[in-house]
Amino acid sequence: MTDFQAVLNSIYQDAIHATDKGVVASYIPELAHVNKDNFAIQLRTATGKTFGVGDYNTPFSIQSISKVLALSKAMSLIGEDIWKRVDVEPSGHPFNQLALLEIENGIPRNPFINSGAIVIADILVSHLKNPKEDFLNYVRELAGDTNINYNIDVAKSEQSTGFKNFAAANLLKSFKNLNNPVHVVLDFYFYQCAIEMTCSQLSDTFYLFANNGKCLQNKLHITDRQVKRVNALMLTCGFYDEAGEFAFEVGLPGKSGVGGGIVALLPDHFVITTWSPGLNKKGNSKLGMQALEQFTTKTKQSIF
Ligand code: DON
Repeated sequence: MTDFQAVLNSIYQDAIHATDKGVVASYIPELAHVNKDNFAIQLRTATGKTFGVGDYNTPFSIQSISKVLALSKAMSLIGEDIWKRVDVEPSGHPFNQLALLEIENGIPRNPFINSGAIVIADILVSHLKNPKEDFLNYVRELAGDTNINYNIDVAKSEQSTGFKNFAAANLLKSFKNLNNPVHVVLDFYFYQCAIEMTCSQLSDTFYLFANNGKCLQNKLHITDRQVKRVNALMLTCGFYDEAGEFAFEVGLPGKSGVGGGIVALLPDHFVITTWSPGLNKKGNSKLGMQALEQFTTKTKQSIF
């Protein structure tokens, strides 16, 4: 049987001695303060075992990782109607690119690029009574942990600098693909991205996608079919214009965020979360990707 702790320990040694740790995101000014020497991996197996190395109990900004949770909540609220407003194709472009949105008449390529996530945020704003509170409670329920919060400084920091997201939302509005006011949807979206979690909490939260839609508390949140769709979207679109590279190197559905987190999973087997704040040129965690490549190679556990 694989000694998971030994595998994580050896990956950790490589990571902490790496000379190039990538570049910490600074376009959201509040994120620029994070120390790029932070590094963590946490693994939760379907048999109930957990393994960790490094700073896996330190909270960080989950950013775009939250888009998967927003999608699963929207799926449970309106089901297939989502796909009238968002497509399911990889974009092959950066997460904040707007050219395709204009060419394709305001239908975002997928729910994980920013424009697609803003449409999902619009759906949540329309269907949740108290969107921020209800969404946070949903995430806490998935994690089985009430100690998960928004970082208001991060949300406000993006509120004052997120010009491209304002452009995306206005473009969506011009194509009638946003039902609520731009500032209301973006206020929710910036908070959603500003949730902080530790690697352990993230692995727990994503457990339902490795467990046929049932969270750690054994409650069914989404159907098998919906889980299949979320995982397919993570595989094909979770890393934007680097989704092919992630599948090629790691071979798991996963999702990154500009806070340096990555969550990946093998259905029925495990959820693994990494955190290393330095990003590569495509906005994905440099050492997180390296760590996950080593993990699936050393353990021979990927979907391929
Ligand atoms: O909207 C943004 O730009 C950020 N709140 C989230 C972007 C992000 O995390 C991209 N992922 N790698």
